[in-house]
Parts: sequence; structure tokens; C-alpha cells
Amino acid sequence: MQNDRKLIIAIDGYASSGKSTLAKALADVLGYVFIDTGAMYRGVAYFVYINGLYTDDSIHFEKLIKRLDEVHLTFGEPIEGNDRPLLLNGVNINEPIRNSEISALVSLVAVIPEVRTKLVDLQRQMGTHGGIVMDGRDIGTVVFPQADLKIFVTADLDIRAHRRFIEMQKNLPDITFEAVKANLASRDEIDTTRSIGPLKQAEDAVLFDTGLLTRETQLEKALTLVHQLLAQ
Ligand code: DC
Repeated sequence: MQNDRKLIIAIDGYASSGKSTLAKALADVLGYVFIDTGAMYRGVAYFVYINGLYTDDSIHFEKLIKRLDEVHLTFGEPIEGNDRPLLLNGVNINEPIRNSEISALVSLVAVIPEVRTKLVDLQRQMGTHGGIVMDGRDIGTVVFPQADLKIFVTADLDIRAHRRFIEMQKNLPDITFEAVKANLASRDEIDTTRSIGPLKQAEDAVLFDTGLLTRETQLEKALTLVHQLLAQ
């Protein structure tokens, strides 16, 4: 039966564009596995952090590359819906990978070719049988250029900064909107200009501007695209 087809769905986009929210909701409705590849890059940054493989704003590349075989990333059993915790060598690191130290290190880690090769291979293994919604920056361009459906998510920088500011204020009451916006702008710059796996819209990706669409409309639009594919 055609409807038993298990699709590979790639959702790429800018930081704080709402791509994970859409990806999770879509995976929930379809009963697919959701993979947050940003969490995996954060997992390597966490390994760098706990092993002291960095100084101020630089990573000890050679030491990290030598020890990359010690980094075993997996996703554990779902806690809620499709949200599965990231495990580093079997230990749940879902919370610490979101803290500001890791957020500061992760862009530096994500430009290292050996790290990208390792994680891209792992992501391909995870998605090989389909039935997957994977979100990231290079899923539709590098990890699964043959994905059945590609969605590229964007939103105006001010809108993304506002969302992130509201989220961060809960834990960091002194944070300013300007600081959050500057951080996002710098992450956009790093993400879009790195030489390997830069963030860019695949030619065959459908563009979603989440500043103009409600969450419900985004999900409806994505489901319509999925149903069109399954009806083929
Ligand atoms: O989505 P996020 O903010 O958790 O991503 C964390 C970092 O990882 C961010 O700097 C971009 C990078 N990343 C990447 O280079 N490739 C991916 N497929 C996913 C994330």
C-alpha cells in the first residue's frame, strides 16, 4: 500500500525560527521519529566542555579530533510525545546542552569538518528506513538531499529575537533584547557562511515564513504536502 510509505522529512532553517516546534508536531501527528540534529552538535560541544578541550573562544581541534571516537550519541526513550533525551555515552545530557556555555561553544564545534562528517554519518544511519522528521541546517542539502519533503523555515530576525528573548528571560531576567538579537545575528552569520554544510535553502525546499503563519497553519500546510506525497 502506498500509504505505508515512510517518508524522510527534512526541516532546515534559522536559529529560533520555530523549526523544532513544527518538526516535533509533524512527527507526533505522523507517528514518525523526530531527530533534533542541533542537539547532536550541542552534545559534541558538551563533550568539549566537560573535558576542558577549549580555551576562551577557541577549541583544541587536534585534541578533540583524537578523542571523537569517545563520543557516542544516542537518543533515549521518549519523555513526552516525541521528545527523546540526548544521551552521551548513555548519560542523559538533555538539560546541560541548552545552557549558555554550550550555546557559546556549539557554533565553533559545528564548523569542524571531522565533527560534521561523524554526525552526518550518524544522522544518515538514524534516518535510513524513513519515518523520520529531522531538523537542522543541512538536512535537505547534505544529510538527505534525496529527502521526500524539504521545508525551509525562516522568520524576520526581530521576530526570532523576540521569541528567544521571552524564552531566555525566564532563566536570565537581566538579559536584554539587543543582546539576544546580536547573538542570533552572529549565529546566522556563522551558520550561513561556514564552508561545509552551510545553512541554505535547498532548491526543492518549500519555504515557510513562521512570522507570517500560525503554528496551526504551518502544521496544516506541512500535512497537506505529506498527504500529497503519499497519494502519489
Ligand atoms: O538548532 P540549534 O540552535 O540547537 O543548533 C545548535 C548549533 O548547531 C548551531 O550553531 C547550528 C549547528 N547545527 C549545524 O551546524 N547543523 C545542523 N544540522 C544542526 C545544527
